[in-house]
Amino acid sequence: MIREARSIVVLTGAGVSAESGISTFRDAEMGLWAKYDPMELAHIDAFHRDPELVTRWYHWRFTRCKDCTPNPGHHALAELQRQTEARGGSFSLLTQNVDGLHQRAGSTNVSEIHGTILTWRCTKTGKHHELEDIDFSSFPPTSEAGGILRPNVIWFGEMLPEKELERAFSDSSTCDVFMSVGTSSVVQPAASLIDLAKSHGARTIEVNLEPTPISESVDVSLFGKAGEELPKVLDQLNGEA
Ligand code: OAD
Repeated sequence: MIREARSIVVLTGAGVSAESGISTFRDAEMGLWAKYDPMELAHIDAFHRDPELVTRWYHWRFTRCKDCTPNPGHHALAELQRQTEARGGSFSLLTQNVDGLHQRAGSTNVSEIHGTILTWRCTKTGKHHELEDIDFSSFPPTSEAGGILRPNVIWFGEMLPEKELERAFSDSSTCDVFMSVGTSSVVQPAASLIDLAKSHGARTIEVNLEPTPISESVDVSLFGKAGEELPKVLDQLNGEA
Protein backbone atom coordinates (compact mmCIF):
# COMPACT_ATOMS: atom_id res chain seq x y z
CA MET A 1 0.00 0.00 0.00
CA ILE A 2 2.73 2.43 0.97
CA ARG A 3 4.89 1.63 -2.04
CA GLU A 4 2.02 2.32 -4.44
CA ALA A 5 0.77 5.46 -2.69
CA ARG A 6 1.16 8.81 -4.42
CA SER A 7 0.27 10.70 -1.26
CA ILE A 8 0.66 9.60 2.34
CA VAL A 9 -0.67 11.27 5.47
CA VAL A 10 0.65 10.24 8.89
CA LEU A 11 -1.10 11.39 12.06
CA THR A 12 0.93 10.89 15.22
CA GLY A 13 0.12 11.10 18.91
CA ALA A 14 1.92 10.76 22.22
CA GLY A 15 2.67 7.05 21.69
CA VAL A 16 5.30 7.85 19.06
CA SER A 17 7.31 9.77 21.67
CA ALA A 18 6.79 7.25 24.50
CA GLU A 19 10.00 5.38 23.67
CA SER A 20 11.87 8.69 23.91
CA GLY A 21 10.78 8.86 27.55
CA ILE A 22 7.92 11.35 27.16
CA SER A 23 4.74 10.40 29.01
CA THR A 24 1.59 9.74 27.06
CA PHE A 25 -1.74 11.11 28.32
CA ARG A 26 -4.14 8.20 28.64
CA ASP A 27 -2.03 5.12 29.32
CA ALA A 28 -3.20 3.59 32.59
CA GLU A 29 0.07 3.78 34.55
CA MET A 30 2.37 6.04 32.55
CA GLY A 31 -0.23 8.51 31.28
CA LEU A 32 -0.14 12.13 32.49
CA TRP A 33 -3.93 12.18 32.87
CA ALA A 34 -3.72 9.30 35.36
CA LYS A 35 -1.83 11.65 37.71
CA TYR A 36 -3.04 15.09 36.67
CA ASP A 37 -6.44 16.54 35.82
CA PRO A 38 -6.46 17.94 32.26
CA MET A 39 -9.15 20.43 33.26
CA GLU A 40 -6.78 21.85 35.93
CA LEU A 41 -3.73 22.01 33.65
CA ALA A 42 -4.57 21.87 29.96
CA HIS A 43 -7.70 24.02 29.69
CA ILE A 44 -7.72 27.72 28.84
CA ASP A 45 -9.90 28.36 31.91
CA ALA A 46 -7.28 26.69 34.13
CA PHE A 47 -4.66 29.09 32.78
CA HIS A 48 -6.87 32.09 33.54
CA ARG A 49 -7.67 30.70 36.99
CA ASP A 50 -4.15 29.71 38.02
CA PRO A 51 -1.46 30.84 35.56
CA GLU A 52 1.29 30.04 38.05
CA LEU A 53 0.33 26.36 38.32
CA VAL A 54 -0.26 25.92 34.59
CA THR A 55 2.96 27.63 33.45
CA ARG A 56 4.97 25.76 36.09
CA TRP A 57 3.58 22.46 34.79
CA TYR A 58 4.30 23.32 31.13
CA HIS A 59 7.80 24.44 32.07
CA TRP A 60 8.33 21.08 33.80
CA ARG A 61 7.04 19.29 30.68
CA PHE A 62 9.30 21.39 28.48
CA THR A 63 12.39 20.52 30.52
CA ARG A 64 11.48 16.82 30.16
CA CYS A 65 11.10 17.18 26.36
CA LYS A 66 14.37 19.08 26.03
CA ASP A 67 16.31 16.21 27.59
CA CYS A 68 14.72 13.60 25.28
CA THR A 69 15.88 12.59 21.82
CA PRO A 70 14.00 11.20 18.80
CA ASN A 71 13.61 7.40 18.76
CA PRO A 72 13.67 4.93 15.83
CA GLY A 73 9.94 5.61 15.19
CA HIS A 74 10.57 9.33 14.58
CA HIS A 75 13.58 8.48 12.40
CA ALA A 76 11.61 5.92 10.38
CA LEU A 77 8.90 8.50 9.62
CA ALA A 78 11.53 11.05 8.52
CA GLU A 79 13.06 8.42 6.25
CA LEU A 80 9.65 7.43 4.88
CA GLN A 81 9.09 11.10 3.99
CA ARG A 82 12.47 11.29 2.22
CA GLN A 83 11.79 8.11 0.23
CA THR A 84 8.21 9.07 -0.67
CA GLU A 85 9.23 12.53 -1.84
CA ALA A 86 12.27 11.14 -3.72
CA ARG A 87 9.94 9.02 -5.86
CA GLY A 88 7.73 12.05 -6.55
CA GLY A 89 5.02 11.34 -3.98
CA SER A 90 3.66 13.69 -1.35
CA PHE A 91 3.99 13.13 2.38
CA SER A 92 2.19 15.03 5.10
CA LEU A 93 3.00 14.58 8.77
CA LEU A 94 0.32 15.85 11.14
CA THR A 95 1.17 15.60 14.82
CA GLN A 96 -0.73 16.15 18.03
CA ASN A 97 2.62 16.22 19.84
CA VAL A 98 4.11 19.47 21.09
CA ASP A 99 7.63 18.13 21.72
CA GLY A 100 9.34 18.94 18.39
CA LEU A 101 10.90 15.44 18.16
CA HIS A 102 9.71 14.82 14.58
CA GLN A 103 11.56 17.91 13.38
CA ARG A 104 14.65 16.90 15.35
CA ALA A 105 14.55 13.53 13.57
CA GLY A 106 14.58 15.31 10.19
CA SER A 107 10.88 15.44 9.26
CA THR A 108 10.05 18.59 7.36
CA ASN A 109 6.90 20.64 6.90
CA VAL A 110 5.38 19.08 10.04
CA SER A 111 1.90 20.31 10.92
CA GLU A 112 1.66 20.72 14.70
CA ILE A 113 -2.10 20.71 15.15
CA HIS A 114 -1.87 21.08 18.95
CA GLY A 115 0.91 23.68 18.75
CA THR A 116 4.36 23.52 20.32
CA ILE A 117 5.77 23.70 23.81
CA LEU A 118 9.08 24.99 22.45
CA THR A 119 8.04 28.60 22.00
CA TRP A 120 5.91 30.75 24.29
CA ARG A 121 4.03 33.98 23.62
CA CYS A 122 3.10 37.12 25.51
CA THR A 123 -0.60 37.25 26.36
CA LYS A 124 -0.48 41.05 26.16
CA THR A 125 1.34 41.66 22.86
CA GLY A 126 1.24 38.24 21.18
CA LYS A 127 5.02 38.40 20.67
CA HIS A 128 6.71 34.99 20.46
CA HIS A 129 9.62 34.20 22.75
CA GLU A 130 12.26 31.50 22.45
CA LEU A 131 12.66 29.56 25.69
CA GLU A 132 16.28 30.60 26.25
CA ASP A 133 15.12 34.23 26.33
CA ILE A 134 12.52 33.61 29.07
CA ASP A 135 13.21 34.16 32.75
CA PHE A 136 11.72 31.14 34.52
CA SER A 137 12.99 32.13 37.97
CA SER A 138 9.39 32.92 38.98
CA PHE A 139 5.97 31.77 37.77
CA PRO A 140 4.08 32.75 35.76
CA PRO A 141 6.92 34.08 33.57
CA THR A 142 6.35 37.57 32.19
CA SER A 143 7.56 39.47 29.14
CA GLU A 144 9.30 42.83 29.04
CA ALA A 145 5.86 44.30 28.22
CA GLY A 146 4.55 42.98 31.54
CA GLY A 147 2.26 40.32 30.01
CA ILE A 148 2.15 36.72 31.19
CA LEU A 149 3.98 34.30 28.89
CA ARG A 150 2.17 31.13 27.90
CA PRO A 151 3.24 28.11 25.85
CA ASN A 152 2.22 28.04 22.18
CA VAL A 153 0.17 24.88 22.72
CA ILE A 154 -3.54 24.52 22.03
CA TRP A 155 -5.47 23.95 25.22
CA PHE A 156 -8.88 22.38 25.65
CA GLY A 157 -11.40 25.17 25.13
CA GLU A 158 -9.27 26.82 22.41
CA MET A 159 -9.64 26.77 18.64
CA LEU A 160 -7.13 24.77 16.65
CA PRO A 161 -5.00 26.92 14.33
CA GLU A 162 -7.01 27.52 11.15
CA LYS A 163 -4.13 26.96 8.73
CA GLU A 164 -3.10 23.66 10.32
CA LEU A 165 -6.69 22.49 10.45
CA GLU A 166 -7.33 23.32 6.79
CA ARG A 167 -4.20 21.45 5.80
CA ALA A 168 -5.14 18.45 7.94
CA PHE A 169 -8.61 18.22 6.35
CA SER A 170 -7.37 18.87 2.84
CA ASP A 171 -4.45 16.39 2.96
CA SER A 172 -6.58 13.73 4.65
CA SER A 173 -9.30 14.00 2.02
CA THR A 174 -6.87 13.59 -0.89
CA CYS A 175 -4.36 10.98 0.34
CA ASP A 176 -4.07 7.37 -0.84
CA VAL A 177 -2.76 6.06 2.47
CA PHE A 178 -3.51 7.37 5.96
CA MET A 179 -1.43 6.10 8.87
CA SER A 180 -2.42 6.69 12.48
CA VAL A 181 0.53 6.18 14.84
CA GLY A 182 0.55 6.14 18.63
CA THR A 183 -2.70 7.97 19.23
CA SER A 184 -5.70 6.85 21.28
CA SER A 185 -7.93 8.39 18.57
CA VAL A 186 -10.31 9.96 21.07
CA VAL A 187 -9.50 13.67 20.79
CA GLN A 188 -11.33 15.54 18.03
CA PRO A 189 -10.93 16.74 15.38
CA ALA A 190 -7.71 14.71 14.92
CA ALA A 191 -9.53 11.44 15.61
CA SER A 192 -11.97 11.99 12.74
CA LEU A 193 -9.30 12.57 10.08
CA ILE A 194 -8.95 8.87 9.41
CA ASP A 195 -12.69 8.59 8.67
CA LEU A 196 -12.42 11.52 6.29
CA ALA A 197 -9.50 9.83 4.51
CA LYS A 198 -11.38 6.53 4.35
CA SER A 199 -14.51 8.16 2.97
CA HIS A 200 -12.39 9.52 0.11
CA GLY A 201 -11.00 6.09 -0.68
CA ALA A 202 -7.71 6.04 1.28
CA ARG A 203 -6.27 2.79 2.61
CA THR A 204 -5.67 3.00 6.35
CA ILE A 205 -2.99 1.70 8.70
CA GLU A 206 -2.78 1.93 12.48
CA VAL A 207 0.32 1.47 14.64
CA ASN A 208 -0.41 1.19 18.35
CA LEU A 209 0.47 -0.91 21.37
CA GLU A 210 -3.16 -1.93 21.75
CA PRO A 211 -6.55 -1.74 20.02
CA THR A 212 -8.19 1.71 19.83
CA PRO A 213 -11.64 2.88 18.64
CA ILE A 214 -10.38 2.85 15.02
CA SER A 215 -8.83 -0.63 15.07
CA GLU A 216 -11.92 -2.38 13.71
CA SER A 217 -12.24 -0.11 10.71
CA VAL A 218 -8.62 0.20 9.53
CA ASP A 219 -7.24 -1.95 6.72
CA VAL A 220 -4.10 -2.91 8.63
CA SER A 221 -3.33 -2.85 12.35
CA LEU A 222 0.27 -3.16 13.48
CA PHE A 223 0.20 -3.83 17.20
CA GLY A 224 3.54 -3.06 18.82
CA LYS A 225 5.85 -0.21 19.66
CA ALA A 226 6.07 2.53 17.04
CA GLY A 227 9.86 2.49 17.46
CA GLU A 228 9.91 -1.15 16.37
CA GLU A 229 6.98 -1.41 13.93
CA LEU A 230 7.86 1.65 11.81
CA PRO A 231 11.48 0.59 11.16
CA LYS A 232 10.10 -2.86 10.17
CA VAL A 233 7.77 -1.19 7.65
CA LEU A 234 10.76 0.64 6.15
CA ASP A 235 12.79 -2.56 6.00
CA GLN A 236 9.97 -4.28 4.14
CA LEU A 237 9.66 -1.36 1.74
CA ASN A 238 13.36 -1.56 1.02
CA GLY A 239 13.28 -5.32 0.59
CA GLU A 240 15.30 -6.03 3.70
CA ALA A 241 12.71 -8.12 5.53
P1 OAD B 1 -2.95 9.36 24.36
O1 OAD B 1 -2.17 9.28 25.63
O2 OAD B 1 -4.41 9.58 24.45
O3 OAD B 1 -2.72 8.01 23.54
C1 OAD B 1 -1.45 7.47 23.33
C2 OAD B 1 -1.61 6.21 22.51
O4 OAD B 1 -0.32 5.71 22.22
C3 OAD B 1 -2.37 5.08 23.24
O5 OAD B 1 -3.34 4.56 22.36
C4 OAD B 1 -1.27 4.03 23.52
O6 OAD B 1 -1.75 2.71 23.44
C5 OAD B 1 -0.29 4.32 22.41
N1 OAD B 1 1.11 3.99 22.71
C6 OAD B 1 1.78 4.09 23.88
N2 OAD B 1 3.07 3.77 23.73
C7 OAD B 1 3.24 3.43 22.42
C8 OAD B 1 4.35 3.02 21.64
N3 OAD B 1 5.57 2.87 22.15
N4 OAD B 1 4.14 2.77 20.32
C9 OAD B 1 2.90 2.91 19.77
N5 OAD B 1 1.83 3.30 20.46
C10 OAD B 1 1.99 3.57 21.77
O7 OAD B 1 -2.23 10.45 23.45
P2 OAD B 1 -2.83 11.23 22.16
O8 OAD B 1 -3.68 10.32 21.35
O9 OAD B 1 -1.67 11.87 21.51
O10 OAD B 1 -4.09 17.24 24.05
O11 OAD B 1 -3.73 12.32 22.85
C11 OAD B 1 -4.32 13.32 22.05
C12 OAD B 1 -4.40 14.63 22.82
O12 OAD B 1 -5.01 14.40 24.10
C13 OAD B 1 -3.06 15.24 23.19
O13 OAD B 1 -2.52 16.03 22.15
C14 OAD B 1 -3.36 16.05 24.41
C15 OAD B 1 -4.22 15.05 25.13
O14 OAD B 1 -5.10 15.55 26.09
C16 OAD B 1 -3.97 18.34 24.83
O15 OAD B 1 -3.24 18.42 25.80
C17 OAD B 1 -4.82 19.48 24.39
